[in-house]
Amino acid sequence: MGVEIRVEGLTKSFGSQTIWQDVTLTLPAGEISVMLGPSGTGKSVFLKTLVGLLKPDRGSIFIEGRDLVTLRESDLYEIRKLFGVLFQDGALFGSMSLYDNIAFPLREHTRKSESEIRQIVNEKFELVGLQGAEDKLPGEISGGMRKRAGLARALVLDPEIILFDEPDSGLDPVRTAYLNQLIVDLNAQIDATFLIVTHDINTARTVPDNIGLLYHRHLAMFGPREMLLSSEEPVVRQFLNAQRIGPIGMSEEKDADELAAESGQELPPLPPIPMQLGTSDGTVRRHQREPGGWCRDNGVTPPPRSFSDDSMSEPVAS
Ligand SMILES: Nc1ncnc2c1ncn2[C@@H]1O[C@H](COP(=O)(O)OP(=O)(O)OP(=O)(O)O)[C@@H](O)[C@H]1O
Ligand SMILES: [Mg+2]
Repeated sequence: MGVEIRVEGLTKSFGSQTIWQDVTLTLPAGEISVMLGPSGTGKSVFLKTLVGLLKPDRGSIFIEGRDLVTLRESDLYEIRKLFGVLFQDGALFGSMSLYDNIAFPLREHTRKSESEIRQIVNEKFELVGLQGAEDKLPGEISGGMRKRAGLARALVLDPEIILFDEPDSGLDPVRTAYLNQLIVDLNAQIDATFLIVTHDINTARTVPDNIGLLYHRHLAMFGPREMLLSSEEPVVRQFLNAQRIGPIGMSEEKDADELAAESGQELPPLPPIPMQLGTSDGTVRRHQREPGGWCRDNGVTPPPRSFSDDSMSEPVAS
């Protein structure tokens, strides 16, 4: 279950502004991947391109052997049903109750009866912990509840691929922790392919199987979590460890003077790689790898104290 998405040489620009070019990566079927990058590097544009809402200039997006980029609108409509998308702002209809918001895709895309719809919608309300809020309008609930309502709506057609655009933005740390747990549990339950855009470094370090980093109009790196968390590549290292020293400045790139001022400054050591977040009931996700497995298979020595219990007690400031 879950389908693979293979992206090859994808390039997107608006007018003369290139957003990113030559992005090549594979989102493995059923795995959780996170996409990181400074604000404005085109993470939301990437998600919208994957679902076919934006057309790339060049490149391919292969899903089940078909290239989305060249599909006709009618075929694209079919393939879009594979996707559940949680947009950055939740994108709920303000004048509809939560119930009607979540029922909307079913009424729009299926021929299910209202009683079948009721059963599915109730199930999703329970899944995201929103029972009792069915009659509320989006404007009457908290930001965290809106995120969960958006998630319920993204799940209602049983998607094979779920894209989350900053599911955790605007949430307090406790709600972010609950949401991350929900994401991991959900992945174990439905086995879909997940791609999460986030700015939360602790989420990126502990939740996914794979991490990607968009920076300076290209994909700086994409690969297994342990590969990026043990990487010495300056941009990856700086971003994943939320460090001030490195090539990324306040306005994306540091100029030569800023970099010169930093030269000779010693980089802090890489922090330990934390354990990956497990499911709440202890079941192992189908694609979960054992701690340290990637490092061992690739002959990489992880930073000291990686994968130990005390590696969890040192959250990286974000
Ligand atoms: N429809 C559009 N037309 C023209 N330019 C656009 C459009 N959508 C996005 N852009 C531009 O593309 C760039 C990337 O935007 P995007 O929203 O993908 O950034 P982001 O990485 O998601 O940032 P953030 O982390 O702040 O959400 C920005 O410069 C933005 O102005
Ligand atoms: Mg965005």
